[in-house]
Amino acid sequence: MAALHDHSANAPDEPRTQAPILRAEGLGKTYGGLTALSDVSFALDPGEVLALVGDNGAGKSTLLSILSGNAVPSTGRLLIDGTETHFRRPADATEVGIATVYQDLALALDLNVADNLFLGREVSLRRGLGRWIRWLDSSKMVADAQTALQDIHIRIPDLRTETRRLSGGQRQAIAIARAVTWCRRALLLDEPTAALGVEQQREVLNLIDRVRRKGIAVILVSHQLPHVLEIADRIAVLRRGRLVAVLQRDEATTERLIALITGLEAA
Ligand SMILES: Nc1ncnc2c1ncn2[C@@H]1O[C@H](COP(=O)(O)OP(=O)(O)OP(=O)(O)O)[C@@H](O)[C@H]1O
Ligand SMILES: [Mg+2]
Repeated sequence: MAALHDHSANAPDEPRTQAPILRAEGLGKTYGGLTALSDVSFALDPGEVLALVGDNGAGKSTLLSILSGNAVPSTGRLLIDGTETHFRRPADATEVGIATVYQDLALALDLNVADNLFLGREVSLRRGLGRWIRWLDSSKMVADAQTALQDIHIRIPDLRTETRRLSGGQRQAIAIARAVTWCRRALLLDEPTAALGVEQQREVLNLIDRVRRKGIAVILVSHQLPHVLEIADRIAVLRRGRLVAVLQRDEATTERLIALITGLEAA
């Protein structure tokens, strides 16, 4: 990948001193004859929480699949720290520090909790010193994951438990803990609280706040507008694959968002 600290994308008269952490330019995705996403452009700054709202089928998960390397866009481009970047597989996004909680969670049910926390992140050095580093890395990872799980008030006493034996909420918590532990640049959350109890939902919002304070950007897909209005700096509305509005939090109300989501208010 090219140098990540190339700030040449900044226009000279722009007040920002840094390129956005992530910039989407005209992203589109078609599946056969169906346009799932069309001409979506936005920028994301470090430490910013951008909520993404829209009806079922609006294209939210499609956008996240492009940003997480699970889908290749049909049109447009993606810039990471001002550098055009092509994600061909999820590991490419992982490599630049983008971690994702998928709507379908994407946990391997036959693996135990600890192995799921490591899924897809094998350390390449395996011999000699590499093995030692890997061991240290694993121990830190399990400790970090335990902390993240405790942070959202979910108790999983034994990380060796097979994942299929856990409840839906516990599985969701594991997916969140995994992503929070691994994100360095951006955290993408697709309906992260859908399976969680009231207390755990609140803790996920607190966790998002802590992640943002570390300068990590967050994209939160949610149908829960009160949560969105509480935590987001900006709110992007997708309708039928198009970005119809991006509002600052103080411009947004539940009524206005519903009008934009359903098409009652023209963008
Ligand atoms: N792999 C795929 N193949 C074909 N069509 C797809 C695929 N993925 C998504 N679509 C279609 O793209 C459109 C957008 O879907 P997407 O999953 O992005 O919606 P969403 O906004 O996440 O909806 P929800 O709120 O229900 O999760 C839908 O019409 C969907 O059927
Ligand atoms: Mg979705």
